[in-house]
Amino acid sequence: MKGVILAGGLGTRLAPLTKITNKHLLPVYDRPMIYYPIQTLVDAGVKDLLIVTGGNNAGDFLRLLGNGTQFGLPRLNYAYQEGEGGIADALRLAEIFADGEPIVVMLGDNIIEKNIRRGVAAFRKQKRGARIFLKAVENPRAYGVAELKGDRIVSIEEKPAKPKSQYAVIGIYLYDNTVFDIIRTIKPSRRGELEITDVNNAYIRRGQMQYEILDGWWADAGASHQKLLETNLLIARQRGVKS
Ligand code: G1P
Repeated sequence: MKGVILAGGLGTRLAPLTKITNKHLLPVYDRPMIYYPIQTLVDAGVKDLLIVTGGNNAGDFLRLLGNGTQFGLPRLNYAYQEGEGGIADALRLAEIFADGEPIVVMLGDNIIEKNIRRGVAAFRKQKRGARIFLKAVENPRAYGVAELKGDRIVSIEEKPAKPKSQYAVIGIYLYDNTVFDIIRTIKPSRRGELEITDVNNAYIRRGQMQYEILDGWWADAGASHQKLLETNLLIARQRGVKS
């Protein structure tokens, strides 16, 4: 399985911190934000990684991460997203890299306490379709929200006014290689982006979507200044810092 980390976008919700740098390069306690998703995928046994970024600071990723030796990787791959077409638009750029293999996609601002090994192992057995991770949250309106019936996921709504559950869809997605065919069929949303939620709903309609409940905490560090601060504190606490 290959890994794709999406680290583009303008990071407007974190302005002015993101005026002169990319959101995923901002500090989260003692490391740049992008280090955390890379470590999560490496810990899950993924060794072939693609970083998709864009904007004016793309070169800084190369200077920061180089060939990935600090993560024990043999090399890193990079792709450049022109414009800000959304998560699914950025993922399109991974098609040649994936080369027919299944992929694990992680948003570069998502940080988790534990690991995704169980989900990855289950996906390897599943063989086809997709698998996502859910987490019960206090403010589901800020996320993609899953509607569940028994052990099935029947739909996902992106940032709904009236969420059908407490379960946010977190930014880690396991896909078979048909994801690229699905992306070709979806249309930009009202905010002008190709939405990852539309990709996931296509798998649901095919009856090929499974899910896991994530263990431990999940932080969407790029969602707001408050979330960024909370994530810094969660990591500091994990490192044993007393406040
Ligand atoms: C994106 C997805 C959303 C998901 C979230 C997780 O939202 O569109 O479905 O719940 O990531 O971080 P964004 O934060 O890009 O608005």
